[in-house]
Amino acid sequence: MTIRSFVEDGVETFEAQIDGETIQWDKGLSYARHLQTERLLSAQVPVSDQPDEMLFIIMHQTMELWLKLLLHEARLVVTALQTDDLDHAGKTLDRIATIQRHMIHSWEVLATLTPHDFMTFRGFLRKASGFQSHQYRELEFMLGNKRADLVLVHGDDPAVSERLSAVLHRPSLYDELLRLLARRGFAIPAAHLERDWSLPYVASPAVEDAWLAVYSDVEAHWDLYALAEKITTLEYYFQEWRFKHMKTVARVIGQKMGTGGSAGVDYLVKALNLSFFPELWSMRTRLVAAKVGPNYADPAGAGA
Ligand code: HEM
Repeated sequence: MTIRSFVEDGVETFEAQIDGETIQWDKGLSYARHLQTERLLSAQVPVSDQPDEMLFIIMHQTMELWLKLLLHEARLVVTALQTDDLDHAGKTLDRIATIQRHMIHSWEVLATLTPHDFMTFRGFLRKASGFQSHQYRELEFMLGNKRADLVLVHGDDPAVSERLSAVLHRPSLYDELLRLLARRGFAIPAAHLERDWSLPYVASPAVEDAWLAVYSDVEAHWDLYALAEKITTLEYYFQEWRFKHMKTVARVIGQKMGTGGSAGVDYLVKALNLSFFPELWSMRTRLVAAKVGPNYADPAGAGA
């Protein structure tokens, strides 16, 4: 078996016949150099000598990588909304949904960690907890769950605190969506268009009315309706991720307290009632069928 070497585009290049294929590589950009695999694969450093800790580390690290991509894509959605580019926003939201489905499914791998397996190394984790994931917190802030007190946890890391604080003070994805609705002529209250963005979002009947108008005449507002459904999907999957996390945690630690100091499962259950885009959900209760055709049935029981 021989390796042929030559220079291509000024780069030392190699070629070999392997399995009937002409395989080439060069001294420029290799797979390992591009993807930094050496750094990536040396970042799994157990704090115990227990074999099941590797699964725990890799589960968290892969989730962090997907969170990084979600943040990246969510920023693109915000930019698209700011520039009224609904096509790009929709395409990016489709990718976000696919990543989320993948993340939800990946909990199945962690569910193979039995309570016994986890107990073999849990004590070594001390107070480390996903609660301290700054990427997760940034994503929550970006989507609209603004909680200034949660920045405190990152006080020992000025760069992270600064980044989280910057995102906290910026309009969220939902705020940008409401600004878009206002530009499209819907009556969004002024207090929703300019405010202290670091404060939690407060749902408003006027915003609910605007969404009701979009959903009551989808033909007239098709692009907004399609976009709103994709944004609803984002929250739908976010909640499913939270639910699978909560259920996996219940399966592994029961009702024990979390390593981060919270009540554990009960703390995680509370998050299932959070909503990033509240009026997109509440509007659905008020939505009635258009009065067309002989099959119309008034859901309020008032008659056709
Ligand atoms: C056996 C595995 C796991 C257990 C037992 C567990 C347990 C917990 C508990 C009890 C909490 C509440 C905070 C606390 O007191 O610690 C929490 C929060 C959290 N965990 Fe996990 N977790 C596990 C796996 C994961 C994985 C793989 C991720 C992926 C990044 C993750 C991300 C988070 C996040 C982001 C929070 C904060 C949630 C919020 O504040 O709403 N966890 N976890």
